[in-house]
Amino acid sequence: MKYAAITKRLAGLGSGKWALHIEGRRKAAAGIPVIELTIGEPDLPPDPMLLAECARAMQAGRTRYSNGRGEPAVVDALVRKYAKRRNGVTSRNILCFPGTQTALFVVMMGLLDAGDEVLAGDPSYATYEGVAAATGARLVPVPLRAKNGFHMQAADLEAAITPNSRVLLLNTPHNPTGAVLSASEIAAIGEICRRYDLWIVCDEVYEELTFDDRFASPFDNPDLSDRTIVVSSISKSHAAPGFRSGWAAGPSEFFDHLLPVSETMLFGVQPFIADMTAMALTQPIETSSIMRANYRARADLLVDRLSAHPALKPYRPEGGMFIVLDVSGTGLNGNDFATRLLEEENVSVMPGSSFGEGARDLVRISLTVLETSLEEAARRMLCLTERLAS
Ligand SMILES: Cc1ncc(COP(=O)(O)O)c(C=O)c1O
Repeated sequence: MKYAAITKRLAGLGSGKWALHIEGRRKAAAGIPVIELTIGEPDLPPDPMLLAECARAMQAGRTRYSNGRGEPAVVDALVRKYAKRRNGVTSRNILCFPGTQTALFVVMMGLLDAGDEVLAGDPSYATYEGVAAATGARLVPVPLRAKNGFHMQAADLEAAITPNSRVLLLNTPHNPTGAVLSASEIAAIGEICRRYDLWIVCDEVYEELTFDDRFASPFDNPDLSDRTIVVSSISKSHAAPGFRSGWAAGPSEFFDHLLPVSETMLFGVQPFIADMTAMALTQPIETSSIMRANYRARADLLVDRLSAHPALKPYRPEGGMFIVLDVSGTGLNGNDFATRLLEEENVSVMPGSSFGEGARDLVRISLTVLETSLEEAARRMLCLTERLAS
């Protein structure tokens, strides 16, 4: 049988990057006590108030078709959220989607054609290559260097631009490195985007998880408002990834063009989840501040324990749910270290290569488990490292 070219372009870009995670789950299912540090799933449940609102809305009949832009209450809540960050935001600047991932996919469908290029940090979130490839575009890496704290540099961005460059896909706080861009770094990057007429798609799914409250966004910079689209969700901020509730915020003219694309694919999102999302965005809920404190403390713990061995180099994150560890001092790259760690010590981590060639010496460790498990995982990483050194 013949399939469309998109299936070839995306082959291996889906679960292929998660092979070690899947192997860890297989071991665990076979009864082996694996410490799973692979995926970025919040370890708290959603606030009970949100679950009650979702159930109430379902019982109240909020189970009918919605509309393509989003339910009025959640669109209104998003207008208020983004109007605090920039003047002049209206409902025409908002589109709702089932999660950041879908928002990314549809936004890219609206910006890119075959042969175009998308610039993104190397390393970057594992699905970016796929959302670019789905459109027929190509992901072009911009090196994120450890010596710069993995912060994208305007000069590195400019060096990667070609006549085919259309979009810069930014992510702050950054997955996997935890880098949080400053307003001045964003201004310098934005200046390059203006000079080369690039769109900026900024993935802000970890906005609420900066460790020192220093979040900045190109959306908030009036000089960049005509070319910036933010994508985000309540997946991380409200520990609700399974609800699939996200959005895009950006220029009204682009969204008028994008709406039929979104409608063709989705025909709206679920009203009862929209009601819960409206509540999440308007009520004081502590989930993200609890996670922020937990993840920061857990990152500190791992930096302390792992830097005890000279062959290991942990990089303290500035936000998000992960920490990256340079394992090249052990003589192994990230993939081989992660494979042996799972085989010999029953700890699953993500190999850096799942996030780009630039991260081949790294592994990514999720901070979403209790301190006792992280202590034990660190002990096992040190055991493997000792064995490799002897
Ligand atoms: C950087 C980044 N963007 C997007 C997503 C997906 O978010 P959502 O659950 O809102 O689709 C993730 C999930 O881990 C992520 O790390």
